[in-house]
Amino acid sequence: MTAALKQVDLVISGGLLVDPERIVRNSIAVNNGRIAAIGPADEMPPAKESLDASGLYVLPGAIDVHVHFREPGFSHKETWTTATQAAAVGGVTTVFDMPNTNPPTSTPEAVAQKIEIAQRQAIVDFGVYGNIGEHNTDQLRAMAEAGAVSFKLYMGSENPLVPCPPDGAILDAFEVLADLGIRCTVHAESTPILTWRGERLLKSGRTDAAAHLEQHSDIATVEGVSRTGIFAEWTGCKVHIAHESTRHSLPHIRFAKERGVDMTVETCPHYLLLSTDDGARLGPNFLRVKPPVRESGHREPLWQALLDGTIDILSTDHAPHLQAEKKRPSIWDCAPGFPGVETSMMLMLAEVSRGRLTLPQYVRMASAAPAKAFGLYPRKGALSVDSDADIVLVDMKRQGFIRAEALHSIGNATPFENFPILGAPVRTLVRGRTVALDGKPVGHPGWGRNVVAAG
Ligand code: NCD
Ligand code: ZN
Repeated sequence: MTAALKQVDLVISGGLLVDPERIVRNSIAVNNGRIAAIGPADEMPPAKESLDASGLYVLPGAIDVHVHFREPGFSHKETWTTATQAAAVGGVTTVFDMPNTNPPTSTPEAVAQKIEIAQRQAIVDFGVYGNIGEHNTDQLRAMAEAGAVSFKLYMGSENPLVPCPPDGAILDAFEVLADLGIRCTVHAESTPILTWRGERLLKSGRTDAAAHLEQHSDIATVEGVSRTGIFAEWTGCKVHIAHESTRHSLPHIRFAKERGVDMTVETCPHYLLLSTDDGARLGPNFLRVKPPVRESGHREPLWQALLDGTIDILSTDHAPHLQAEKKRPSIWDCAPGFPGVETSMMLMLAEVSRGRLTLPQYVRMASAAPAKAFGLYPRKGALSVDSDADIVLVDMKRQGFIRAEALHSIGNATPFENFPILGAPVRTLVRGRTVALDGKPVGHPGWGRNVVAAG
């Protein structure tokens, strides 16, 4: 087959290719943005450009199905240009953007508007979530036709831009999405618990960081996860549980999966690597995120669940805020969330270096599983012939420290300041074009494409 190929655009030779099963030394030929051949270096076709990947690992780009890139509406925190530059440098080649922008992505027009904004600026590929509201069930199909890749349900929400719909509307929406065959991503918390406890804590005058954990008690997530499973089983809707934060959800996830519910689950680096103990280092309010980073006893069970496949996917919930927005004196005024796309792969490579997981396991959770869950596999999430040439070259010998000031996000308030780097992405390609090199974005805004339209 390779012999039939005339000159190709690019050959990447001599690297160690990583897939979820194994690591093999092989070369990759890239043509017209796709992988044209994989094999020994001496079987590669002639190429216009060649890259020597000796000493490097070659991974499929990471697919982050949970990011908040803030436009339209909040460009003081992040723009699609800065966010996708951060993603590219971090080895992320596809992102799915959440709908809590302003206007929220709750109509076909808002979906089209966001795609247009993203299309102009993005240097990596992207998908756009439509938001499920109380009154837009009859528009979900049109939103999908407008190019939404999936839908987000804020089952736990205090944000007036994306309020939680009543259970009846959730059921209706699940029925529509079951019909469309589209997976629904769920922020699985109980809004009644959040609002009841939130008001009680506010009235009692509490403004300390622990009050946030009390409001977002584990039970709020456990109830949201199990209700999602019950509604999904009843309707046949495929669901994806966002940002799993508590070990107490794990039996409920296993129960739903055992019953045949098509449920995928993600967690994020901050739930695996941080705990409430980090409040002392960061300042107590800085750690605020929804759902919260919890006590240290949750980390090990979450790691185990991620490694045994109970949790399928590693995402980031990239939610950038300005440093000042994270450092306000009352916990209720402190903006929740952290930037994640630029640091996630580096953080996990450090864990690979420490023996916590293997590179194939990382590729499974960061690339293959998200692509499979959202219908992109094997066009994305794989190093195989005909896949998009979304490729990351990783140098496991790279060392340093994570520094907020070096990140490309505008809202660069990372909780991972000073975390050691033990391995890093050194070149990122999206559809065959280099979009980041040695920690610097080099792609042209506008190169990124909607994964739906690109189909
Ligand atoms: C999200 C954000 O900032 O957009 N923050 C977060 O803590 N996850 C909002 C949200 O999803 O609640
Ligand atoms: Zn989020």
